[in-house]
Amino acid sequence: MAAGAIDYGELVREDQVHARLYYDDAIFRDEMERIFSRVWAYVGHESEVAEPGEFVARWMGLQPVLLVRDRNRRLHLLLNRCRHRSNTVCQLERGKAAGGFRCAYHGWTYAASGELIGMPYPVGYAPGDFRKEDYGLIEVALESYRGFLFGHLNPNGKTLRDHLGATTRLIDQAIDLAPNGELILRAGVLKHMYRANWKMTMENVLDAYHPPILHQSAFHLDSGKSFNWDSIYGPDGNARIRDLGDGHGQIDFSAQNRKSGGFFFQGLRGEVAGDAQRAYIEGLERRLGKERAAETIGNSDPHFSIFPNFNFLPPGQVRLIRPVSVDETHIYYFPALLAGAPEEINRERIRRNGYMHGPAGLVAPDDIDVYERNQDALRARKDEWLLLRRGLRTERRDEDGFRVGMAYEETTQRGIWRHYRKLMSDATGGAAQ
Ligand code: FES
Ligand SMILES: [Fe+2]
Repeated sequence: MAAGAIDYGELVREDQVHARLYYDDAIFRDEMERIFSRVWAYVGHESEVAEPGEFVARWMGLQPVLLVRDRNRRLHLLLNRCRHRSNTVCQLERGKAAGGFRCAYHGWTYAASGELIGMPYPVGYAPGDFRKEDYGLIEVALESYRGFLFGHLNPNGKTLRDHLGATTRLIDQAIDLAPNGELILRAGVLKHMYRANWKMTMENVLDAYHPPILHQSAFHLDSGKSFNWDSIYGPDGNARIRDLGDGHGQIDFSAQNRKSGGFFFQGLRGEVAGDAQRAYIEGLERRLGKERAAETIGNSDPHFSIFPNFNFLPPGQVRLIRPVSVDETHIYYFPALLAGAPEEINRERIRRNGYMHGPAGLVAPDDIDVYERNQDALRARKDEWLLLRRGLRTERRDEDGFRVGMAYEETTQRGIWRHYRKLMSDATGGAAQ
């Protein structure tokens, strides 16, 4: 290791991690380089840019990109940086670039495909000194898994499918719930910003220890005080946490979903019972057949995370995590609607997205308060280790070889950190990621 280099093997141990990983600027800069420049990162869903010319502005780590569909319906991920003197060519978050993108500084204009199509006074370049085709917006590698789009700044041979590994099964599970076999993410977005490190969200989403404690009041409001949450999260509970490798993980509620008729957490209870529910089930049966439809409904929406910046939470919420600085993070919540489902059901999925996670929601605001308190407490500099030891000695492997723990253990967080240590310890940009 070079002198002065950060020893990630020392900071990330099997059973504890050092506080510095959440507050050190140099570590944040390393992460942007060694993680966000070297792995597939989530950038959006095909349905967000369904029409030619539609675009959304996103980021690969700190780098601004545009996800855009060109006039021939091809998708592109382009660095949002004018090739003349550097300037964002688009400042909107989303829209339709009918005439392409025009840089405000000197007016260079790019098609939605990124191609440079015009500039004022081209005569400024001597003949042979400049070829337009060499100066299109820079294209970033983009791959789709069933509509979910991931970008890679420095492709190293690892395909998106390699990266997603076992999470493809969970993506399939989410999509299978749609009678038309497709998810649609065009119902808007909720946003949170918080003053704490981005990894706190990644850990929290796979932390099934805190829900019955931190979210107790939310659970009481949502399901009544008599519901026995220990039957899910406690020592006899049926929820499990699973480390899916490569920093990905899952909280597996499928046993509870099956026990409660498949509608647990799915946004299909109560208000939308009855006709809409029946129509939904019939729609699903038409595509999958009775047996598979029942099984799909039984499994319901999965709860999982794809390293480094994607989460999927029931009922049908896609999260995109955007690190902004070592102690500032933005989270985007997109309701994922079920194509072909009755309107009442999709309306309920949108409603529950806000009800649970909106600015006045029952759940996410509590998590966010906790992240900021975590970050505040990191200023206390005695014994700076954060424990990850719960269940370390008792975790098992499932039939697929993945580590599994009880809801109140820390198997999934250890999975994130194990992968993190591997990526961060490799300063060379090796091909392994
Ligand atoms: S910087 Fe964009 S046209 Fe000059
Ligand atoms: Fe939470």
